[in-house]
Amino acid sequence: MNILLLGAGGREHALAWKLSQSPKCQQLYIAPGNAGTALCGTNINMSVTDFDGIKQFVLDKHINMVIVGPEEPLVKGIVDLFRKDKALQQVAIIGPSQYGAQLEGSKAFAKKFMMRHNIPTARYREFDATNYADGIPYLQQHSLPIVLKADGLAAGKGVLICQSHVEAMAEFELMLQQSKFGEAGKKVVVEEFLDGIELSVFVLTDGKNYVLLPEAKDYKRIGEGDTGLNTGGMGAVSPVPFANDAFMKKVVEKVVEPTVKGIASEGIDYKGFVFVGLIKVGEEPLVIEYNCRMGDPETEVVMPRLKTDLVDLLIAAADGTLDKVKVEQDNRAACTVMAVSGGYPGNYEKGYAIKGLDQSFPADSMVFHAGTTPQKEEVVTSGGRVLCVTSYGDTISGAVSKSKEVLRQISFEDMYYRKDIGYEFA
Ligand code: AMP
Ligand code: GLY
Repeated sequence: MNILLLGAGGREHALAWKLSQSPKCQQLYIAPGNAGTALCGTNINMSVTDFDGIKQFVLDKHINMVIVGPEEPLVKGIVDLFRKDKALQQVAIIGPSQYGAQLEGSKAFAKKFMMRHNIPTARYREFDATNYADGIPYLQQHSLPIVLKADGLAAGKGVLICQSHVEAMAEFELMLQQSKFGEAGKKVVVEEFLDGIELSVFVLTDGKNYVLLPEAKDYKRIGEGDTGLNTGGMGAVSPVPFANDAFMKKVVEKVVEPTVKGIASEGIDYKGFVFVGLIKVGEEPLVIEYNCRMGDPETEVVMPRLKTDLVDLLIAAADGTLDKVKVEQDNRAACTVMAVSGGYPGNYEKGYAIKGLDQSFPADSMVFHAGTTPQKEEVVTSGGRVLCVTSYGDTISGAVSKSKEVLRQISFEDMYYRKDIGYEFA
């Protein structure tokens, strides 16, 4: 089949790498892609939200399946467009409807969904302009720290963990009265702080059945020892040692099954990935957030650990036959370490040549590109997160060592990466 993958990050390179290994994948196009995806298929210079362009391309190239990498097209309703348009109805598209994508696109929607289906999560209340005044006494009596979340998508910056009541009230005011996060912050979820260790669980559903992909843990902070500013993700490991059978059984029973049953019972059109951001508090899993797509950089360890043909899995998700497939995992550990531009997640320069990419790396390591662009004979940096190196190992620390060894042979101006990915499992 002919496949169009939307997106341009490390996640999309890892997906393209995996898709291109399938005998069922004939033509693979990536829009807009990066210098890495160009090694797996054909990059198309088209934005992920150019719905008219996407429609035309799908028809011109006889695309059979569209896989949506990032959340934005889903939250903007790309799946609904495919369902409604007669010319596109035969094309499989991986992702939820606009309504279902609110599980990621609206924190309040996700919270209400969890309440309806008895899915464990932090206690919360929702505020907007209409009940702003109630928020002040509510915050004053709230235990510390207080978590404030802008309801909508805020480029990963919409969650604030406030250490004092004064700070929480000031931020609350900024969000609701001064539009700190624009439209996204017109509604605010205030929730209790959960103290625990996080992990990412990946579910592929056809709206009724589901399969679990390998779980992962990502490292969001820029600095070693999980310090400094939040980033898109500086590395990831899989498997997650504390996600043992007993814990994963709880995750399945208390979170995954009620989530999929909830999607089915509410008649939500959802044929795609559900990325459940979990936190383990004591021995219990609680949901921090849902995303309606795969994680980045988690995909860069999940895809390498997935032995099953991804195209087969996605066909089953689109056809509603995920109850008939089995997912096989590679038993080795995988880790990825992300190299970023100096200054990221603040301001950084782009356009630096990346050296060392054309050598042959050990068979159990691979480079996934994120913010890279081909330019003449070179590959240059074009984003904050530039590339990551994923390696397999018998242990997490073994895999991390191999990735760092490869990264020592790659360079660009002001390149930075965390040397301590997986540190708590060493
Ligand atoms: P989110 O955008 O919902 O993923 O939140 C971003 C990050 O904020 C999460 O990955 C957590 O590290 C943190 N976070 C969100 N909600 C909570 C909470 N209730 N308690 C503790 N940390 C949280
Ligand atoms: N790594 C977290 C995310 O993709 O949202």
